[in-house]
Amino acid sequence: MPAPQGYSRTQILLHWAIAALLVPQFLFDDGISGAFRTLMKEGSATTTTGAWVHIVPGVAIFVLVLWRLALRLTRGAPEAPGEPSLQRTAGIVVHWLLYALLLIMPVTGMMAWFGAIGAAGEVHEILQNLLLVLIGLHVAAALWHQFGLKDNLLNRMRQPEA
Ligand code: HEM
Ligand code: HEM
Repeated sequence: MPAPQGYSRTQILLHWAIAALLVPQFLFDDGISGAFRTLMKEGSATTTTGAWVHIVPGVAIFVLVLWRLALRLTRGAPEAPGEPSLQRTAGIVVHWLLYALLLIMPVTGMMAWFGAIGAAGEVHEILQNLLLVLIGLHVAAALWHQFGLKDNLLNRMRQPEA
């Protein structure tokens, strides 16, 4: 199957919806952390509002990522830009690591919360740092393309394929 020339409207919407949903995951994590401590100590915990604001967007991210990956694997995505190089390979690797973490984070979160599994909570806590680093690299690369290389790569995530 030849690679498409651009992302579809749905792929673009999913990219930005997931990016937006990730913001509260990092900003509002005190509630879930507190509730989880109670769960681990006492064997049960009420789902406070603070916990809900983490659980709901987190589960939504999980569903949207499954949808996004299904599209990625069936419809595909445009070729990575530029000639084969270490940088281009790094970009592809970072994209797939982001997909992996977008799956692993909600899965470990759900295992921790719904299954009361402390180890899953620890993996969740450690991997959030890796996700942040990768997002940082990804955004820095997007800005480099836009303002350093001036190749208007950002347009690929704004303008759906006609
Ligand atoms: C991509 C989605 C998610 C991201 C980026 C994310 C991010 C985070 C962050 C930053 C923390 C705070 C960690 C810390 O205290 O240092 C956290 C804690 C936690 N999250 Fe998530 N989360 C996601 C999805 C979920 C989901 C879907 C659930 C459950 C339904 C969940 C359950 C938890 C629990 C139980 C904790 C406490 C873990 C602990 O203290 O060991 N998370 N999450
Ligand atoms: C300001 C924030 C962001 C900007 C400017 C941005 C920009 C872009 C651009 C321009 C592309 C297309 C690259 C290409 O065509 O080769 C892209 C792809 C991608 N972005 Fe972002 N992004 C942002 C945030 C995020 C976040 C928060 C995530 C998830 C954690 C994410 C995950 C991805 C993934 C996985 C791809 C690869 C899509 C594919 O080819 O399958 N992005 N992003």
